[in-house]
Amino acid sequence: MTDIKIYAIWDAGVRRFHWINVLCIIGLIAIGVVILNAKLLGVSVEGKILLKTIHVWIGYVFALNLSWRIIWAFIGGRYSRWSAFLPFRQGYIKETRDYISNFSSGQAKQYLGHNPLGRLAVTLLIFLLFVQAVTGLVLAGTDIYYPPLGSWIANWIAAPGIDPATLVPYSKELYDEEAYKAMRAFRKPFITIHYYGFYTLLLFIVVHISAVVITELKEGGNLISAMFTGKKILTKSPEDE
Ligand code: HEM
Repeated sequence: MTDIKIYAIWDAGVRRFHWINVLCIIGLIAIGVVILNAKLLGVSVEGKILLKTIHVWIGYVFALNLSWRIIWAFIGGRYSRWSAFLPFRQGYIKETRDYISNFSSGQAKQYLGHNPLGRLAVTLLIFLLFVQAVTGLVLAGTDIYYPPLGSWIANWIAAPGIDPATLVPYSKELYDEEAYKAMRAFRKPFITIHYYGFYTLLLFIVVHISAVVITELKEGGNLISAMFTGKKILTKSPEDE
């Protein structure tokens, strides 16, 4: 007979982070796509500045939520912690191999926290989100002179006699030409990483959602509803109890 047990796994901290993160990413991607295609869509300069400003405000919420999750990984519940999901502990490779072979033969093992592949995926995802947040915060400074670097950038590029606090984007007459060129060179690697980070994230999102659906169908454990209720329902004895 199958022994069905209910376990409280995802604490409120993880669930709140997850859904705020989803909402922010939808907003950031939607506006990011419009910024990317601004020329094609005939968006005016004022429109572009507005889009970037909204993108940055959502970005602040996203970056704060992510920072909070990084702290929560030190102080949160057992399954929210780095120790529960970083894929570096001893025996990880063997555990992953066993997990994949059991999964492929239809005998998937069940986990309370993330399964070995899930651990790798979550680590890569958090790293990618962190990269998007850091590069985005630099771009907020170089593009619209917003914090945390905005006033430093404005001081750097303001033409002699121009108050840096009055700088507005796309107004070359207010900038010192040489300093502006140097600032654009400084910005270049950040926009390149932000741009490729965006495409990598799109790919990750597809993989993440497909993996969750396939795992739920093959392994059980109601992964999807657990991110709402925090509770997993398992039919086997979990590997990581
Ligand atoms: C998951 C998170 C994020 C995604 C998917 C994302 C996506 C994008 C995309 C697709 C673009 C257009 C890139 C281009 O024009 O080449 C963009 C631009 C930009 N992003 Fe983000 N972004 C994210 C987070 C952030 C954050 C946290 C901030 C700042 C708080 C930010 C600030 C900016 C700025 C200022 C631009 C304008 C750069 C330009 O001139 O094109 N982004 N973002």
